Amino acid sequence: MDLTFHVQTYGCQMNKHDSERVYGVLENMGATAVDTIEQADVVIFMTCCVREAADVRLYGQVASMKNLPMREGSPLHKRIVAVGGCIGQRDGEKLFEALPHLNVVFGTQNLASLPTLLLASYNEGTQQGEILKTSDDFSSTLPTTREHFWAAWLPITVGCNNYCTYCIVPHVRGKERSRAMEDIVKEAQHYVDAGVKEITLLGQNVNSYGRDLYGKPRFDDILEAVAQTGIERLRFATSHPKDLTDGVIDKFAHLENLMPYLHLPAQSGSNRVLKRMNRSYTIEHYRELIAKVKQACPGIALSTDIIVGFPGETEEDFQATYDLIDEMKYNQVFSFIYSKREGTPAARWDDPTPHDVIHARFDRLLEAVARGAHASNQTAQDTDQLVLVEGTSKRDERMLVGKTPHNHTTHFPLPENKTLDDFLGTIVNVHIDEAKTWYLKGHLIGQ
Ligand code: SAH
Ligand code: SF4
Ligand code: F3S
Repeated sequence: MDLTFHVQTYGCQMNKHDSERVYGVLENMGATAVDTIEQADVVIFMTCCVREAADVRLYGQVASMKNLPMREGSPLHKRIVAVGGCIGQRDGEKLFEALPHLNVVFGTQNLASLPTLLLASYNEGTQQGEILKTSDDFSSTLPTTREHFWAAWLPITVGCNNYCTYCIVPHVRGKERSRAMEDIVKEAQHYVDAGVKEITLLGQNVNSYGRDLYGKPRFDDILEAVAQTGIERLRFATSHPKDLTDGVIDKFAHLENLMPYLHLPAQSGSNRVLKRMNRSYTIEHYRELIAKVKQACPGIALSTDIIVGFPGETEEDFQATYDLIDEMKYNQVFSFIYSKREGTPAARWDDPTPHDVIHARFDRLLEAVARGAHASNQTAQDTDQLVLVEGTSKRDERMLVGKTPHNHTTHFPLPENKTLDDFLGTIVNVHIDEAKTWYLKGHLIGQ
């Protein structure tokens, strides 16, 4: 049967990784991936509920599919629609009530069951759901079709035990579980042998890797072991400041293939807010960590996550966040307006601050974010950088785009007689001529 499918992915890298398994599992069934919902016989939504906007959009999007005509030549008389990811996990079969034409719901631990659920729904014409609370299987063991041949996401933990008071993730991804070190190293070696250039180790808090398996965190050992596979570029996300040890920081000084870039979410610059968020560190400790990281790896590029408008945030609290951003010169800041998530402690806390005040704070913060990004980019001005080519610019297909070791986005012209395929997934030498606010501009050298 000539079946086509489309996967629509929202949310974090964990979802992107899981989507690669959905591609793998469905291609194993003999189905063909297509780029649009219109062309697909089976549509799978890999969903995120970390903030309200994504949640609302998903319901609207699935509802609007009811009247979408089937593609010409489809072997099905009706499109099969499935919802997975974090909304699938959270809402389970309740989704069927709100979306009567939805066929399949599956949780974050049920990727392996997807073919069975799809077939059962099709053959029996019934709605099928499977939501496990927890599972010992890691989705990494499933067949995969990676989005990029040069890069791989490698989950080392799933779930989260931190229960930050605003956050839904522990409720939808379960308690933290670590994969055995041998499995991780074996998978990394397999990627290296397959020509992958960059591995990103994934977890909600990679620093606590191994606590459940070995009685103490062993993230530094994992970094060392994966670096030894000879991978060209090693990165990781996300680090929680409360568990970032000297042992891990030290790896930045000693592992050549560990890239000089750290994403360390601060969430707020105010101790009062951090305490109410249950983040378990003070901003003084955060500053100390950054100082140590810079000592181990001079010139390291930094990024962070910030929440603006957490319940009860005062002007003074916000100013402390603003000052932190201004001081740190982050390459990137992922800033979010606080979004109330039912079931989390903070959802019960009143906030007298008017919406327009919160939005004004957010806009003000963006000015400091832009200044910091520009300052971070300026550190690369007039240097030569090794850039991993990831594609072309959306606005100009003759402009190649890639990342430096510091994760700075770099644009440079494609030579006249060449195409993107000559460069995609390769590492090239680029001289940086200009530092823009959000990216670097340069030209190829040594070609
Ligand atoms: N485990 C990672 C982040 C996972 S969620 C960590 O702890 O850093 C990614 C980001 O979304 C968080 O860092 C936070 O900044 C943001 N976020 C999470 N819940 C949110 C909420 N309820 N409202 C607004 N932003 C939120
Ligand atoms: Fe959410 Fe906190 Fe866990 Fe990150 S560490 S996923 S913000 S609960
Ligand atoms: Fe979203 Fe789930 Fe990731 S809620 S941020 S997709 S873990």
